[in-house]
Amino acid sequence: MTSSYRITLLPGDGIGPEIMAVTVDVLKALGGQMDLSFEFQEALIGGAAIDETGEPLPQETLNRCQDSDAVLLAAIGGYKWDTLPRHQRPETGLLALRSGLGLFANLRPATILPQLIDASSLKREVVEGVDIMVVRELTGGIYFGTPKGIFETETGQKRGVSTMAYTDSEIDRIGKVAFETAQKRRGQLCSVDKANVLEVSQLWRDRMTAMAADYPDVSLSHLYVDNAAMQLIRWPKQFDTIVTGNLFGDILSDAAAMLTGSIGMLPSASLGADGPGVYEPVHGSAPDIAGQDKANPLAQVLSAAMMLRYALDQPTAADRLEKAVIKVLDQGYRTGDIMAENMTLVGCKAMGDALLSALAG
Ligand code: IPM
Ligand code: MG
Repeated sequence: MTSSYRITLLPGDGIGPEIMAVTVDVLKALGGQMDLSFEFQEALIGGAAIDETGEPLPQETLNRCQDSDAVLLAAIGGYKWDTLPRHQRPETGLLALRSGLGLFANLRPATILPQLIDASSLKREVVEGVDIMVVRELTGGIYFGTPKGIFETETGQKRGVSTMAYTDSEIDRIGKVAFETAQKRRGQLCSVDKANVLEVSQLWRDRMTAMAADYPDVSLSHLYVDNAAMQLIRWPKQFDTIVTGNLFGDILSDAAAMLTGSIGMLPSASLGADGPGVYEPVHGSAPDIAGQDKANPLAQVLSAAMMLRYALDQPTAADRLEKAVIKVLDQGYRTGDIMAENMTLVGCKAMGDALLSALAG
């Protein structure tokens, strides 16, 4: 029997439409082979939405997302919109999507593939075998805390204010996701905070410590964020699962991504308590190479694999897609960001064609 899924596509800006087009072709081919049928509906977000409607997340887009089994997002943002007032920036649309869908848990795996070890800027012995999952809190912390704004003081100075705040229930729900994630992995959870300075982090640490009693099979450790940044670069293999707040997670997940050679390879899943999740690459919209057929579509394709696995419960299809990615790398195909000696440089579309052949073969 054919399983049918409604997927909302948000191609967004920059390289977004190019990598999304490849991914949709690949999903269609995979669907044909596996008796899965996808009903794709496209919607606007980010700069593309601003140009068309004046706002970065039109209500129509949110409605469509809510009315689907999963959302596949590419990337948002670009130079063109960087100087607009904040409420009209592409990033504001992304944050509104996360909070509108209640996506408080962001899973960002950083796994190094043997084929790409030489693309890492770190030594082989440091990165070989790295397999980290960053669990980033996504709808709280300093991104959303109030008061926020640029205010005028009594002496006429401007004062920029953002507030880093977490309630215990916000910490507990991301903690639960993190402990459960660690349980399914190697049972080690490292909570990252700045409890030596920030009260918000003290509460974070207290709650994580209290929760550990419910998960005797997980060993919990704590690191301050500055040390965590250092340890990630020094000896990343010490990490299994990392849980941290929104801002620290933003920064550390980029660092973890880069261990693997290219941020162009890494997918992510953003999940809520219920309702559709958003699956998107960790990388951004790369406006400098947009429209030039140079983008690496693999993080987007791997995000689709995460979607198949987590949202649609189709692990066999997810495996098949991930195997196709490994196969094209084994065949030597590389986009510019992961290019190495003796490999075959291809563009975005050609990488897509190679994936289609790999799936067919
Ligand atoms: C990310 C991005 C976003 C964030 C930006 C584009 C708002 O850097 O998804 O990591 O800061 O969360
Ligand atoms: Mg980021």
